[in-house]
Amino acid sequence: MAETMQALVIDRTGEADELHLAEVPRPTRVSDEVVVRVVAAGVNPIDAKTRAGRGVAAAIGSYPAVLGNDFAGVVEAVPYAAHPLQPGDRVYGMGRVPRLGGSYAEFIAVSSLSVAPMPASLGFAEAAAVPLAALTAWGAVIDTARAHEGQRMLVHAASGGVGHFAVQLAAYFGAEVTATCSARNVDFVRSLGARHVIDYTSERFEQVASEQDVVIDLIGNVADDTGTRSLDVLRPHGLVVNVPTGSWPTMADEAAARGIRATGYSVSPDARTLAVITRLIDDGSVRVHVDRELPLAEGAEAHRLLEGGHVRGKVVLRVGADPA
Ligand SMILES: NC(=O)c1ccc[n+]([C@@H]2O[C@H](COP(=O)([O-])OP(=O)(O)OC[C@H]3O[C@@H](n4cnc5c(N)ncnc54)[C@H](OP(=O)(O)O)[C@@H]3O)[C@@H](O)[C@H]2O)c1
Repeated sequence: MAETMQALVIDRTGEADELHLAEVPRPTRVSDEVVVRVVAAGVNPIDAKTRAGRGVAAAIGSYPAVLGNDFAGVVEAVPYAAHPLQPGDRVYGMGRVPRLGGSYAEFIAVSSLSVAPMPASLGFAEAAAVPLAALTAWGAVIDTARAHEGQRMLVHAASGGVGHFAVQLAAYFGAEVTATCSARNVDFVRSLGARHVIDYTSERFEQVASEQDVVIDLIGNVADDTGTRSLDVLRPHGLVVNVPTGSWPTMADEAAARGIRATGYSVSPDARTLAVITRLIDDGSVRVHVDRELPLAEGAEAHRLLEGGHVRGKVVLRVGADPA
C-alpha cells in the first residue's frame, strides 16, 4: 500500500468549511520532478476561488483534492544523483494546482523548473509567502510593463500579496509608483517605495492621478469599477495590466475605444526568476510581509481572511516543524 501523508483537502467545492485534514497518498516523483517536504504553504486568492468552485475549479481531476500552490520546505527526492538540487536543500516554489496535487500537504511533487533555493535571510513561513505573489508581480511589472526609470506606474491593491511585491519591484527598477490602498496601509505602502499613495476610501484615484504610463490592476471591475476607472488615469497608448483575469470581461473593447493598450496576465512557475527574486530579498532590496501564520488545520480561517479582501501582505499555513 502506498505511503500516506496528512493534507488539507476538499471533497467538493463550496464554503471555507469544506477544507479538512485527511490522510491521502503521498506523491511520488516522475521525470524532472522533485519531492519537497513542505514546512509552510502560502495562501493565495486563487486557492479560495477554486475551493469555492470558481478560479480553476474546472481542472480539479478528482477528490479529495489538495489545494495550495506556494510552498517552502526541504528537498526529499531529486530526479538524478548530480541534480543541482539535493536532498536536504531548503527550497521554495509553486505548483500547478489543481492540475497536480497542491502544497496544503506534508509533501509535494513538482517540476524542478518550479523550485529554487529559498532566501537564506528568510524563515520557512516568510519564504512560503513569496513564490506565487512575487512571480506574479515580476511578470506584470517587469516582463509585461517593462518597469524603468521615470515610468509612471499606478499599482492597485498595493498592500496585498501581489501588490506589496509589485510596488517594491517597480520602485527598484526606477518607476515612479502611485499606489492605492486604505488609510491603515498608507504608511506601509509608502515604506515599500511608493512615491504617492491614494487612500481609496477617501479619494477617487482618477481625480488624483493622471498621465500614468501603466496601471497594474489587481482589482479589476470586481470592486467599484476599478478597471474601467483606471482608463481615466492613463496617457494615450498607456498600458493596463489586468491581473485578476475574468474580472473585467469588456476590458479589451473599453481600452481600444480609448486608445489604450490592455492585457490580462497569467503567472508561471519559474525557478530562474525566483532565483533573481531570492537575490533581491537576500540583499535587502525586497522584503516580505506575513500578516498571519496559521496551522494547516486552520486553513478554513486562512481562506476566510483572504476572502475578506483586506490582508496586508500574505497569509501562510504552517505545515510542519522547521528541520533541525
Ligand atoms: N492572473 C494571475 O496569474 C494572478 C496571480 C496572482 C493573483 N491574481 C489575482 O490578483 C488579485 C490580487 O491578488 P493578491 O494576492 O494581491 O490579493 P490580496 O492579497 O487578497 O489583496 C488584498 C489587498 O487588496 C487591497 N484592496 C482591497 N480592495 C481594494 C480597493 N478597492 N482598492 C485598492 N486596494 C484594495 C487591500 O488593502 P486594504 O486592506 O488597505 O483595503 C488588501 O491589502 C486577486 O484577484 C488574485 O486572484 C491573479
